[in-house]
Amino acid sequence: MRVVEEQAIKKKVAEFWDLAPCGSFASHVQPGELEFFVEVERYREANQSFVRHLVDFRRFAGLGMLEVGCGLGTDLLCAASLGANTVGMDLSLRSAGLARRHFQLKRMPGDFLRADAERLPYKDGSFDVVYSFGVLHHTTDTQAAINECRRVLKPGGTLVLMLYNRTSWYVHVEPYLVSLKRLMLRQPTLVGGMDKTEVIRRHDGAGNPLGKAYSPSEIKEMLSGFERTKLAIRHPRVVNGGRVATAYGRLMEWSGITSRWGFWIIAQSVKPTQTAVT
Ligand SMILES: C[S@@+](CC[C@H](N)C(=O)[O-])C[C@H]1O[C@@H](n2cnc3c(N)ncnc32)[C@H](O)[C@@H]1O
Repeated sequence: MRVVEEQAIKKKVAEFWDLAPCGSFASHVQPGELEFFVEVERYREANQSFVRHLVDFRRFAGLGMLEVGCGLGTDLLCAASLGANTVGMDLSLRSAGLARRHFQLKRMPGDFLRADAERLPYKDGSFDVVYSFGVLHHTTDTQAAINECRRVLKPGGTLVLMLYNRTSWYVHVEPYLVSLKRLMLRQPTLVGGMDKTEVIRRHDGAGNPLGKAYSPSEIKEMLSGFERTKLAIRHPRVVNGGRVATAYGRLMEWSGITSRWGFWIIAQSVKPTQTAVT
């Protein structure tokens, strides 16, 4: 892709998240108010409590942690309150500003800035932990961003990354179920309803300019510059849904579908301490 095209897409991506910072749909309170952040946090706890178990932020206490694409700083604040020394960056200026405000309201120290994941403004080996949750599938060159995460990590440092799973129930099966439901309820079918690329892009909203997804093996390949890579597959829980949606979500979890074909792949990797000699 040409640089001009890439920049144009990134501008749209930044505008999209400026307009609706990640998770802000979970609150009707004015963004920036304390209650706004509390409600977003509450939603997240209900929707994805498994993240805190899988990642265990307590082990980052006393370590330097960068969140790439921090959004409102919800996860970063959790790590900070457990003792991590946190820095957050985001392509969306409004998100970075709200994350800063979030930390100020909770009286937690943390630095925030607007930057691009593909060109991190930090020196090599600056951080013990780089965390990026649901971000790098929204950037044009995901591999370049992963390489940047590796560069700014200290040798032996940890990368935590969440990327969307292309080989998921959500992409391959659910669109058919949704179409069937709409047919039965005599509702109009969604434009591009079965198109996998569209299903992935629309996950973050109809206006989302860029959303991609990868298979577990592609993610392992993208993380080949790391070692001890572990992948976990999960799916966000249905919150505030109707009875049918809640029952469907429970059935998906109970049957084990979410842990095999969920839409989220959470990878944890370590930057090697020694560079391989070829
Ligand atoms: C789904 S939100 C996730 C936010 C946060 N990680 C969370 O879990 O709440 C995606 C975020 O990625 C940011 N983003 C997209 N492309 C980016 C890039 N190239 N560099 C930095 N941030 C980016 C967006 O601005 C947005 O805040």
